Amino acid sequence: MRVILGVSGGIAAYKAVLLLRLLTEAGHSVRVIPTESALRFVGAPTWEALSGQPVTTSVFVDVPGVQHVALGQTADLVIVAPATADLLSRMATGRSDDLLTATLLTARCPVLVAPAMHTEMWQHPAVEANVATLRERGVTVLDPASGRLTGADTGPGRLPEPEQIAAAALALVADAGHPADADGSLGSDGSADAAADLTGARVLITAGGTREPIDPVRFIGNRSTGRQGYALAAEARRRGADVTLVAANVDLPAPDGVRVVPVETTQELADAVQDRVESADLIIMAAAIADFRPEAVTAHKVKKTGDTVVWPINLVVNPDILAGLVVNRPDVVARRGGARQVIVGFAAETGDATGDVLEHGRAKARRKGADLLVVNPVGGGRGFGDVANDVTILTADGDVVASLTGSKDAVARTILDEAARLLAGDVSPV
Ligand code: CTP
Repeated sequence: MRVILGVSGGIAAYKAVLLLRLLTEAGHSVRVIPTESALRFVGAPTWEALSGQPVTTSVFVDVPGVQHVALGQTADLVIVAPATADLLSRMATGRSDDLLTATLLTARCPVLVAPAMHTEMWQHPAVEANVATLRERGVTVLDPASGRLTGADTGPGRLPEPEQIAAAALALVADAGHPADADGSLGSDGSADAAADLTGARVLITAGGTREPIDPVRFIGNRSTGRQGYALAAEARRRGADVTLVAANVDLPAPDGVRVVPVETTQELADAVQDRVESADLIIMAAAIADFRPEAVTAHKVKKTGDTVVWPINLVVNPDILAGLVVNRPDVVARRGGARQVIVGFAAETGDATGDVLEHGRAKARRKGADLLVVNPVGGGRGFGDVANDVTILTADGDVVASLTGSKDAVARTILDEAARLLAGDVSPV
C-alpha cells in the first residue's frame, strides 16, 4: 500500500519516526512529506534513510513529475502525525502553500490526522472549529492523548502512541473498502493476498542495457528497455524487500520505495554490483550487458573523410559479471556468516542452426551456474519493450522449474515466487 506520512512542526515529530518504521516494516511504501518547520525537529536524512524515498517540502522539486498532484493521486492512505494547530488551520482553509498541503488537496484516499499541541491550543475555539470542519469533510481526526506535554504541563494534547496511530489508520483503510489481510494488517499493495515473503530481504536487481562508448557521441548498445527489471524491483518491494536497482540507461520512473543506481557502461554496472554484493540476499541480473566494448575510446568525435568506406572498430570482451558472482559466492557467503545468497540470471536467446531457445538456455544455465536462469526468446518483436514475455525458468542443471507467458509483472511474480522459495530454504541449494 502506498502511504503518505505528513509531518508538521511539533516536538512529537520524533514519534513519527517510529510510526514510519512500523509502516515500512509492515511492507508499505511510505513517502514522508514534512513541512519546513518539521525539519527543525527531525531532519530530512532521517526520513530519507528510513523510508528509502526522497524527501522534500517544496512543490518546486521534480517539477516534471508534478509531485504536488501525483503523490496525492496515487496514495492509498495519508497520515498526518503530528498535526499542529497551524497545519489543521491550513487544511481547513484549503491552503496549498507547500507540498504537504497540496498533496492533501489532491488525495482522494482515506486521510487520518493525529493532532499534537498544548492543551490551551487544542481547546481554543479556532482549533475546535477547524477540527469540526475537517471531520465534516470526512477527514478522520484522532483525539490527542492526555498526559505530559513538552514542558512541565500536562493535559490533552499529546500525540497518541505510534502503534495506536498505525492501527487506526489501517482500520480506516479496511473500513473504506480496501481489503485487509487475514491478520488484519494490509498487504503492501493493499490487496488481500499480497505476499510478504521477502520482508527484510536485501535484493539487488540490474536492469536495462549497458552502452559502450566509441567516441564522445557514439556508443554500442542494445534494445533492452529495463521493463522486466523494473517490474521485478516493484514486485520485490511490494513483498517487503529492501531493493536496490542498478539501472543501465533506463527511461522509466523509479518504482516506489526502490533505490535506483544509474549506470551507463558494463564496467560501471560491474562496480555498482560489486559494491553491494556482500550485503545482498538475492541478486537478479536482468540487465542486457554488452559482451564486448571498443578497445579504445577516442577523446574526440571520429570524423569521416571523403574516402571513408569502412570504419573498423576492435572490440574486446567484457567480464562476465554473473559468472563472477557465482564463482565468488562461497567467499561472499562465508563473509556473510554462512547466510545463503540466491543468484538469478537471464538468458535472451533467439535460437539458431545449432539449437533452439531452450537448448541454448540449458547450455547457458550449466555454464553460468546461477540458481535460476530465466530464458526468454527475443527478436522478431519478442522480449523487448512493453510486450508480454514468454519465459522458462531453469535450475543450474537445466531442469525446468516453471514456464509461463504473461505480462512482465506476471513474470516478475513467478520469478520471485521461485527465488523466495530458495531463500527460505524450501529447496536444496544448487
Ligand atoms: N551477463 C553478465 N555479464 C556479461 C554478459 C551477460 O553478467 N558480460 C549476464 C546477464 O545479465 C544475464 C546473463 O548473464 O543475466 C546472460 O546474458 P546473455 O546476454 O543472454 O548471455 P551471454 O553470457 O552474453 O551469452 P551469449 O551472448 O553467448 O548468449
